[in-house]
Amino acid sequence: MTAALRPPATLVVTNIGQLVTADPRLPAPGVIEDAVLAADSDRVVYAGPGAGFDVPTEPDTVEVDAGGAAVIPGFVDAHTHLVWLGERSDEYAARAEGASYEEVAARGGGIRSTVAATAAGSLGDLVDAARERARRMLLLGTTTVEVKSGYGQTLAAELRQLEAARSLAGEPGLPDVIPTYLPLHGPVGGDRAEYLEVVLRDGLPAAAGRASFVDCFCEIGAWSVAECERLLTAGRAAGLGAKVHAEQRSHSGGAGLAARVGAASADHLDHATDGDLRGLAAARVAGVLLPGASLVLGGPPPPGRRLLAAGVTLALATDCNPGTCWCESMPLMVSLGVSTAGLTPAEALLAATAGGAAALGLGDRGRLLPGLRCDALVLETRRWLDVGYHLGANPVARVIRGGRVVATA
Ligand code: NIG
Ligand code: FE
Repeated sequence: MTAALRPPATLVVTNIGQLVTADPRLPAPGVIEDAVLAADSDRVVYAGPGAGFDVPTEPDTVEVDAGGAAVIPGFVDAHTHLVWLGERSDEYAARAEGASYEEVAARGGGIRSTVAATAAGSLGDLVDAARERARRMLLLGTTTVEVKSGYGQTLAAELRQLEAARSLAGEPGLPDVIPTYLPLHGPVGGDRAEYLEVVLRDGLPAAAGRASFVDCFCEIGAWSVAECERLLTAGRAAGLGAKVHAEQRSHSGGAGLAARVGAASADHLDHATDGDLRGLAAARVAGVLLPGASLVLGGPPPPGRRLLAAGVTLALATDCNPGTCWCESMPLMVSLGVSTAGLTPAEALLAATAGGAAALGLGDRGRLLPGLRCDALVLETRRWLDVGYHLGANPVARVIRGGRVVATA
């Protein structure tokens, strides 16, 4: 019997029934029974059996008794469009009566209508709307969220969207925010070739100091592979990571592009071929599945099993946006990952945590291991399986972000 560990700790979560560590050395998803989680400042210092841990008694150590409940890593939502104004419930109803996403867009709806509604509000309006969604995400267990621009579609309006996203970063009580510049998304008001030149000349240098990634909607009827390739190649040279909305509505070449430019992730992939997936795996591009958008738009099921068979690092994300998936819930994405993408519950949970971190190039989170950020969720129940099993519920009782309890249900 080894002596109990007693590292300095500012937070200790005791009496954990099942601790999901996402430790790749353990059988997925890395469960330790009857466990303790401890953090010093924002870092995990211990994640292991309670029997091996001597709870510190310093007055400044916060102790949380999990009461036998499960603890899992905080969700990393690697694909969202949180910054928008207006709403498109009429499109939702029209699609339910048979109109396609493309038909609605051709009638002046779609991304164009959100661009107009977003332009009509102030920066403060935008920040308020995005904050409310981000807060809802935190309460549902998201501790890191990627936030795209894309509802500006002029140089100034896109940068204003990035400003709104950035102003949420660091706000207490919200997830950590990772901004992405998405200048090629919907139709532009003027000449598209001219707009692309402005983005390359002025947009990318401005975005390089304000965002981590550059993204594009590579799709027939949106932006072509050639246009997107110019953007991503220049974006990489400017120091931004690359992301691609790829093979969402048709097989358009976005996955091949993501592999060629060494993107951090290719997202959607509903129409990706096995050859595309092998290319992503070889280029070490993560695949982000958005099962909410796939469900709402009624396309093919997300190819979860095929991604894993090809060896692609898999993430699940919400795609939270006003058109294809108004949803803040990562627990629901875990459920859909199992029920529509063919994943096991363990694969889905890992894709929503460690997988999301990988798709954002963040090696410091997504797992509960010593040295990593202490972003963790105390669940309502004893079983981690309940995250997906309890469809549509919020399984989260307490949210810990950076080693501090930031929300209690
Ligand atoms: O990820 N595909 C493009 N972008 C979003 C939808 C945007 C919208 O319809 O407003 C998506 O599904
Ligand atoms: Fe998207």
